Amino acid sequence: MSDETFYITTPIYYINDVPHLGNAYPTVVSDFIARFRRLQGRRVFFLTGTDEHGVRIARTAESKGLAPRDWADQIVPRWHDAWKALDISYDDFIRTTEQRHEGPVQQFVQALYDKDEIYLGSYEGLYCVGCEAFKQPDELVDGKCPLHGIEPEVVEEDNYFFRLSKYRDRLIELYETDERFVMPEVRRNEVLGKVKQGLQDLSISRVSFDWGIPIPWDPKHVIYVWVDALQNYITAAGYGSDDERFNRVWPADIHLIGKDIVWFHAVIWPALLMALDLPLPRTVFAHGFLLVGGEKMSKSRATGISPHDLIETFGSDGYRYYFLREVSFGQDGTFSWESMVARYNSDLANDLGNLAARVLTMIGRYLGGVIPQPPEAPELTAADDALVATFRDSVADMGRAVDNIAPHEALKAAWRFVRKANAYVEEVTPWTLAKDDQQSRRLEVVLYNLAESLRLISLMVSAATPRAAQELWGRLGLEGPLEDTRLTADGAWGGLSGGLRVRTGDPLWPRLDAATG
Ligand code: MSP
Repeated sequence: MSDETFYITTPIYYINDVPHLGNAYPTVVSDFIARFRRLQGRRVFFLTGTDEHGVRIARTAESKGLAPRDWADQIVPRWHDAWKALDISYDDFIRTTEQRHEGPVQQFVQALYDKDEIYLGSYEGLYCVGCEAFKQPDELVDGKCPLHGIEPEVVEEDNYFFRLSKYRDRLIELYETDERFVMPEVRRNEVLGKVKQGLQDLSISRVSFDWGIPIPWDPKHVIYVWVDALQNYITAAGYGSDDERFNRVWPADIHLIGKDIVWFHAVIWPALLMALDLPLPRTVFAHGFLLVGGEKMSKSRATGISPHDLIETFGSDGYRYYFLREVSFGQDGTFSWESMVARYNSDLANDLGNLAARVLTMIGRYLGGVIPQPPEAPELTAADDALVATFRDSVADMGRAVDNIAPHEALKAAWRFVRKANAYVEEVTPWTLAKDDQQSRRLEVVLYNLAESLRLISLMVSAATPRAAQELWGRLGLEGPLEDTRLTADGAWGGLSGGLRVRTGDPLWPRLDAATG
């Protein structure tokens, strides 16, 4: 099992604009999970990218007076920059305009056509450009798309159709027998209910514009942007270009997406894969929306805040930590500046920042900055045992939370240990021991335990706050990139060697005052 590649994806993002917090959110969460799996020793493939075809992008480019391709080439670097600023450790970034994607997508659609999964028909419907999808009249509110607040356009054209309706029973069986296929449960029930009501065949080509991948046997049609986009998950894994790699990497373990695009991922995508007898992704996890003042954050609603605005104040680590910890993953979450400052101050500056500062300062002051030799079992007291027990519980809880795709729970578990280590300092009062010569070995034992706690904490938090974790690692005198360490090998209590020289330094997270910014 652990030799298998752990494959996680973000949605690929529309490039009508630069990234906003709502797009950064699934990217940060995916990065956390990818980093945590690497830490557990898994081989990881973490994919993100950009969705560059379709009416929406064509119109954006037109409004800028540019060809779509030129617009794309101009804006994609801004997405790279944002992910760099957030320390996103993706293994691959796919663009749907790349040859490695377009060729295999044509192969896929041709294979469907050859199997008679596609037929020509005509369609009249209401198309929302924001969703890049047809809408049923009962999905509209006051004649408008509730997600984008715009009136859909009437479209009437000859289209190719995929026989989606044929897959209704197999899909229902999938949702009913595999409770991890769509998560969380509320989304699974929603999808199940909707599919039970019936499935219509899906229009998978458009003729009225040409910004897309041509249908190979009838190139005046372009492939529907969602059918094109979904395939990024397989084309980046080698479908149609590298069978050996594709077999090794596919299926994805997790497609992490927002709740607005569940239908495409949990209905259309598995049906397309079933039609070609390809393995299905293991889990489609749909998270909630980030809201500002009760509204979904988006550029079109003018509530878009750029990640850069927040990184300036909170740093990449502070940004990542806040969204991972604050929002119950799967539910909607409300962003506010005040809660971000409060979370940063309480968990990062106080709990962890103070613990690190206290321990390193005491090792400096009482032990000349050198980590003492590890204690032998008989030297340990009940207080020490309780500290170690909390470590073991919280690291195990963390692993379980990541298995359940609950990053907020994972960090809550890690912080139980951080708080326990702070409580241990209060309990064993090293400053009292330092005044008593008889207690010099006991002082060494407790400071060893605390230094070891800091080492393990840097491992545990590294997937969330990689920069501070690396810094703390270095201050403990440990060498090499934290990214090369493994929880399996390095995550056992007692792994820290005596004799290393520690370094104190500026606070890892200077306190912010509530009015900052
Ligand atoms: N291009 C499609 C996805 C294709 S995947 C094969 C798309 N792109 S998008 O840029 O509009 O949205 C990408 C993701 O960002 C979606 O999962 C969406 O849920 C997420 N978010 C956009 N705004 C959001 C919030 N305000 N809050 C949380 N996530 C939201 O859809």
